[in-house]
Order: sequence, then C-alpha cells, then structure tokens
Amino acid sequence: MKFFIDTANLEQIKEAQDLGILDGVTTNPSLMAKEGISGKEAILNHYKTICEIADGDISAEVLSTTYEEMIKEGEELAAIHPNIVVKIPMIKDGIKALKYFSNKGIKTNCTLIFSAGQALLAAKAGANYVSPFLGRLDDISVDGMNLIEEIRIIFDNYMFDTEILAASIRSPMHIINCAKIGADVITSPLDSILNLLNHPLTDKGLAQFVADAKKLG
Ligand code: E4P
Repeated sequence: MKFFIDTANLEQIKEAQDLGILDGVTTNPSLMAKEGISGKEAILNHYKTICEIADGDISAEVLSTTYEEMIKEGEELAAIHPNIVVKIPMIKDGIKALKYFSNKGIKTNCTLIFSAGQALLAAKAGANYVSPFLGRLDDISVDGMNLIEEIRIIFDNYMFDTEILAASIRSPMHIINCAKIGADVITSPLDSILNLLNHPLTDKGLAQFVADAKKLG
C-alpha cells in the first residue's frame, strides 16, 4: 500500500519524506489556504517546491468547476513537473475533463468521491486515482470503510487500473482498515501516520533494553 501525505505544509512533507516511507502528496484548496498561499503564481510555485521536496505523485487540485477552465488550469498544473497529478472534482464536467486528460496521458485524481457509482464513473473516464473520503462519511454516521470495500470489489471485477486512494483519513485505525480491505493508497495527515509507530509495550520494552544495555557496558 502506498502512503501519501495529505497536506500543503512543506515542513510536514519534508518530515514524511525524510522518514523514507512517502510515496506522494495530496493537497486541496483548503489545505493550500491553510498555508496562506494565495494567487496563481504563488500556487504554482508552491507545487513546484513540493515536487522538489517529495518523490512520487503530487496531486494538485483545479480551482475551477467548468470543463474549459478545468482543462486550462489542469494543463498549467501538469506543466509544472512530471509528477503532478491533476485533481478533478466529481462533477459532470469533471468526468469530461478526466477523459480529456486520460487521452492526453496526463495523470488524474478524482476527488470528493462518496459513492461506489461515482468511483465507477471516474474509473470509466480513465482516472488514475479515485479519492473516497472516509472521515467525512464517518462524520455523518455512514460507514466510510464500507465504501472502500464496494469500490475494491467493482474495480477487481473489471480489472480497472484506477487506484483507490483512501482520503479524509482521521486515525491510524483508518489506515490499518484500509490496508486490510486493499485500498491501493492512503493519504493521511502526518500525525495519523506517526501514530502507527506507537505501542506502550514497545516503550516499556525499549526502556528495559536501554537499562539492561547499560549493565553490558
Ligand atoms: C483528499 O484528497 C482530501 O484532501 C482530504 O483527504 C480531505 O480530508 P478532510 O476530510 O480531513 O478535509
């Protein structure tokens, strides 16, 4: 399973990259705004910097919602770096844009997926990734993990190449359950990834080993 970090924060991206487990980055307009990025040039420069820090696919989301504008914006984003994946919202014009980019060999990630039908449509249109939002479904008392399972079955039935990129991850348990179900990728805030490290018995065991190591000189 691939690990992407879901942030536009350069320090966190660098920390995850330095850990040696990072396969890519996802961003969205809210995450970019959180970093105080504003204006076209600043946005393009920020993505360029992310591509210089992290290896792997870097999802850059279009801000527009019409077909023509998404194409123009997506082409500008794709021109920044070969690792850029154009992130397109799950709307009717978005499906057309996914098909356009697929025909041009530009990688895409279809975002805001909340149903298996949406994932199927995006895969049919040639999306490289679909991003089902687990946490936001859980927030409204709908089992987000169930959606990942449904998409896995559908994509396996028809051998779609589209990868399931589980998004809106809120906890290490989300990551573990995605791995059990067979999501291809998780995109997560850094803290949920780092929380995978923790176990009280590891801390206790290490304290004992360190104490005993001193006795060994
Ligand atoms: C995915 O690509 C989105 O950027 C992200 O995972 C959304 O997460 P949130 O629901 O925590 O905002």
